[in-house]
Formats: sequence, C-alpha cells, structure tokens
Amino acid sequence: MECKKGLFISFEGIDGCGKTTQIELLNNYLKEKNYETIVTLEPGGCEIGKNLRQILLFHKGFVSDVAEMFLYLADRAQHIEEIVLKNVNEGKIVLCDRCIDSTVAYQGYGRKGNIEQIDLLNNIATKGRKPDLTIVFDVDIETAQKRVGSTKDRMEKESLEFHKRVRQGYLELSEKYPERIKVIDATQTIDKVFSDLKEIIEKIL
Ligand code: TMP
Repeated sequence: MECKKGLFISFEGIDGCGKTTQIELLNNYLKEKNYETIVTLEPGGCEIGKNLRQILLFHKGFVSDVAEMFLYLADRAQHIEEIVLKNVNEGKIVLCDRCIDSTVAYQGYGRKGNIEQIDLLNNIATKGRKPDLTIVFDVDIETAQKRVGSTKDRMEKESLEFHKRVRQGYLELSEKYPERIKVIDATQTIDKVFSDLKEIIEKIL
C-alpha cells in the first residue's frame, strides 16, 4: 500500500539505544500491513555515503570537528536527494536510522559546536525537508554502554561525558520540537519499546 504522500520517519538516540532492532521490527510490521517501506541510514545509506561512513567511523588518526561535521552533512545532502526524497515522492515510508538531529546532538551538544550554524547547514543539506516524525530511543549511558560492548567505532570510543551531552541534546531537542520528536523509554523490554513505537506510528499512518 502506498501512503498518500509518502512518509519520512527518522530514528535517533545515543549509541546502544537499540534503535536498529526497533527499525527492523517496525519495517516487518509495516510490510505485513502492505505498506511500501524502505530502511536506510545516515551515514552510509547511499554509495558515496558508504565511503564517508568508513572515514567517519573507522579513520585512524586526527579528524577535526569541523571536517567531521561537514562529512556527516555531505553524506546527508547526497542521501536525502538520492534515497529519501526520491522514495518519499514515490509514496513510500522511508525509515531512516539517524538524520538531522544526530548532527545537532553529536556535533552540537557532544562536540560543543554552534547549534545555530548546524541548523542552518542541516537545512541546506536537506533542502529544508525535515522528517515527518522522529523517534528518540532514550536510554541511560550505563545501559547503552553495555549494549555497545567492547568493539567500538571512532564515535563509540568517545568519553562517557560526551555521550551524556549527546543524550541531553536529544532530550532538549524533543522539548524544542514536541510535535515532531517523540521520546520512548528504551530501557524497557524490546516488546514494550515496540508496543510504544507502534502506538506512535499508528497515529500518523
Ligand atoms: P550508527 O549508524 O551505528 O548509529 O553510527 C553512526 C555514528 O555516527 C553514531 O555514533 C552517531 C554518529 N553521527 C554523528 O555524530 N553525526 C551525525 O550527523 C550522524 C548521522 C551520526
């Protein structure tokens, strides 16, 4: 089934919040209901993005904060045009693992970057198209760290303080944009998190 105008839903949270599991569950659920969906991610949802993801998560050695921000934004600019907008315009439900709010939370709150500038650059990268709905899976740092485990990428290796600021960023974003951003308590069981997620999604289908 196609949606009337297509839908763009993004999923956010600190590393280890469990969003990837929930996206998979939701995708299966929507497909069973005969919706046309695609699952994609940032960084890395398009060919150019796959290369950028490799640099962003696995480059050994110094990466400047500004370079990091522009690499995430470059991935977004390509991905939004090539994958997200194309599929939304075809009437599909696009389930996107991370988007604009990740840059505000990680490069803004985490790296203490200028949030007004990030908003402006996000706006350029997305041509002003915000997600119709954003779900933040909120979890405490200790639980998240356990879920991440010991094999960590460049971002996951950041300090506890960094990840605390990122979490705080998401919570503040959800207060700033209560219509678009909904928070789910992701310390609950997988089933309970999913049932909260379905309740929110049903309202916009
Ligand atoms: P993930 O795909 O496993 O969630 O990993 C992506 C990592 O990149 C995660 O640590 C969050 C980080 N990230 C940013 O710092 N800024 C961004 O704009 C995006 C999209 C991701």
